[in-house]
Amino acid sequence: MSFFEKSLLSIQNLDTENVKLLFSRAKAFKEEFRKSRRFDHLIRQPSNRPIVVAMVFLEPSTRTRVSFQAAAYRFGFRTIIFDSATSSSMQKGESQYDTLRNISAMLPDLMVVRYGNSPEVEGILDTMNCPVISAGSGTGEHPTQALLDAFTILEARGSIAGQRVLMVGDVVHSRVANSNIQLLNRLGAEVGICGPEVMLPAALGDWKNVKRFSDLRLAVSWCQVLMGLRIQKERHEEVGISNSAIEIWDQYRVDRVHLESLSDNGIILHPGPVIRGVEFSSDVLQDRRCLVLEQVTNGLFVRAALYSLILGLEV
Ligand code: CP
Repeated sequence: MSFFEKSLLSIQNLDTENVKLLFSRAKAFKEEFRKSRRFDHLIRQPSNRPIVVAMVFLEPSTRTRVSFQAAAYRFGFRTIIFDSATSSSMQKGESQYDTLRNISAMLPDLMVVRYGNSPEVEGILDTMNCPVISAGSGTGEHPTQALLDAFTILEARGSIAGQRVLMVGDVVHSRVANSNIQLLNRLGAEVGICGPEVMLPAALGDWKNVKRFSDLRLAVSWCQVLMGLRIQKERHEEVGISNSAIEIWDQYRVDRVHLESLSDNGIILHPGPVIRGVEFSSDVLQDRRCLVLEQVTNGLFVRAALYSLILGLEV
């Protein structure tokens, strides 16, 4: 597909050529930013009218919300932030569905939307007056996180094809895992998952070529890319996982001892937020192989590249 004026709601919307184009633009923006602390001047014909991006966050966010906003500012776009149900008319009973329809009716040029498990919201995103970028949807998808993760792997490891990527944690509730597994499979990586049974999918379904591990140390020695995933306690109530099940998590916390099994040139990722002492011990975040903050930096450039492609800003 061409990115121009298209929504990005799922990794399924992208083919390998799209990903290559996006990554080459993100790389150009990052390299230019290193030299001159800007990349907006790489756009050959900037828009001669103000561009308004409406950012609607119906679930909490730090990294995704702020990096979409920072990327918009780097281009000089105007952003409208809607992230508080308590200070909006949702407090008076207006639904998420109608809230989105009303924001779309104000004719922004682009919408960035984070939402929960809501078929009603999912169903109307295709009918907005402008392209929509998913900023994460419940336990569904987080396409831009998967893109920035793959970009980070490519940068650090030199390729994605052939890399062995292990996801440790609450895989079954993770939109990041879902988008990452689809994208990494498409780009030729091998994927492994590891965690307590209640946090792994009962069946792998559409996920092809995914290895399951129950022993964390064995899993770490298999991989070159170790990706932690947050335990999504807020989703557990919906599916009846009790706190006692979460306690078995202790066996899956990555710590210094596990890192002894990770190859010297392996890398450590986590989409964030990292809950220290839960998924990772603090020393994992200090390991020289840990690229968690580099992922955040790459999020800025990947999202800027995506804006430019959807809005038809050529470099
Ligand atoms: N990775 C991620 O989506 O983080 P936030 O929830 O803070 O945006």
